[in-house]
Amino acid sequence: MPEQTRTTLPTNDEPTLVNSAAGLSEFPAPPPLSPGSRLDPWVEAYSDRAGQLSVSAIRALFAVASRPEVVSLAGGMPDLSVLPLDLVGQTLGRLVAQRGTSALQYGSGQGDPILREQIMQVMRPVQAVADPDRIVVTTGSQQALDLITRIFVNPGDVVVAEAPSYVGALGVFRSFQADVVHVPLDHDGLVPEELDRTLTRLRSEGRTVKFLYTVPNHHNPAGVTLSAERRPQVVDIARRHGILVVEDDPYGLLGFDGPPLPSLQSLDPAGVIFLGSFSKTFSPGVRVGWALAPHAIRDKLVLALESAILCPSAFGQMAVSAYLSNHDWKAQIEAFRTMYRQRRDTTLQALSELIPQATWTCPAGGFYVWLTLPEGLDARAMLPRAVTERVAYVPGEGFYADGQGQRHLRISYCFPTPDRIREGVRRLAGVVEAEQEMLDTFSPGCCSASDGPRSARTSPTGTGGR
Ligand SMILES: Cc1ncc(COP(=O)(O)O)c(C=O)c1O
Repeated sequence: MPEQTRTTLPTNDEPTLVNSAAGLSEFPAPPPLSPGSRLDPWVEAYSDRAGQLSVSAIRALFAVASRPEVVSLAGGMPDLSVLPLDLVGQTLGRLVAQRGTSALQYGSGQGDPILREQIMQVMRPVQAVADPDRIVVTTGSQQALDLITRIFVNPGDVVVAEAPSYVGALGVFRSFQADVVHVPLDHDGLVPEELDRTLTRLRSEGRTVKFLYTVPNHHNPAGVTLSAERRPQVVDIARRHGILVVEDDPYGLLGFDGPPLPSLQSLDPAGVIFLGSFSKTFSPGVRVGWALAPHAIRDKLVLALESAILCPSAFGQMAVSAYLSNHDWKAQIEAFRTMYRQRRDTTLQALSELIPQATWTCPAGGFYVWLTLPEGLDARAMLPRAVTERVAYVPGEGFYADGQGQRHLRISYCFPTPDRIREGVRRLAGVVEAEQEMLDTFSPGCCSASDGPRSARTSPTGTGGR
């Protein structure tokens, strides 16, 4: 039994029992809750930054979507069932047995030098201009996003991002009180003319733009890829406006139609930070990603990382390193690609057959299809009906910083089997039909004025999957 100590605290009339075995006796207990008071007695103490933290749309859905009777088209989890888990287990066992004193120890802030060499090989298909010295290993690319924002963004600075954008990046930008300004996407990715126009406007308004955040390959959530023609245009525009580019590329190696296009980083190594991850091509559980940055930025990233976590997990890094050395990781990526291609095909086929009144993007890789509902429908309002019908998706609004996206939703085809995908789309079709019927019955034409122009302006036009 842990020892208990009687401590007198200033805010209490009565002494309070606190647990000294857990070392808690040094801290005052929170003030007691009086009837009717707020649930969190520390609510006034949080920083302004903490006020910006909110539950992501995806996490909020997680509890519902993970019920077995629900077909979840919501989460972006890779399907790890094609990994040779017994062989990976043997590799990890050997790692601990043979190199445990290093693998279970603290490591360097910048990351394991052997892994950084191997990351060079992994980046070869995207033609990144790299040397291991410019790579910082991070706890997933999510941490790289956090560190980059931490070292560049002051409250009120602008981050320019695609509309829609990866929800986890928007959460980071919000937590650092950045002002996200969106630039539209279409089927060929970010629209260069719109980027130029937006940066020109922001400059004329005297705004401080810190960087462009972009996911050029198999975009999350839009499922589109920045075309070869547009890549140099985007880089030129950013250079001309003196804006750094953050190129987030967790899906680049998961293309269905051949090797990836050259990265933006390959076109301007001094002006682009490239982010990579092993989460989608090996395992998100190891939490290993990386940033490839110009030297000076690399230095700042390492300092910020050390201040946040001292060093990335040595065990996670050495696990990835051992996996890359001992397994045919390229063949494994091919196995992932084959599986996801089949699921993409099933999704598009099912959408064409079952929800022809919607439009959607046609991904050439990655995990996601971006669906545009018929005019007047609202994906968030529709979600309770969808969950009742045992299908989950992510409503579009969470992928925008400014409340757009009502007519959109993201479908993830990465995790459910083809049979489940078909069933999920069948259920979704029923939900869309019922919502349309309700709309036609009760409020003909009521929503088109507010919703139409927003969607038309901001989404990929969505005809690719028809
Ligand atoms: C576009 C994008 N960037 C970053 C991440 C974060 O990945 P990681 O697991 O490497 O932190 C994700 C995860 O889904 C993502 O889709």
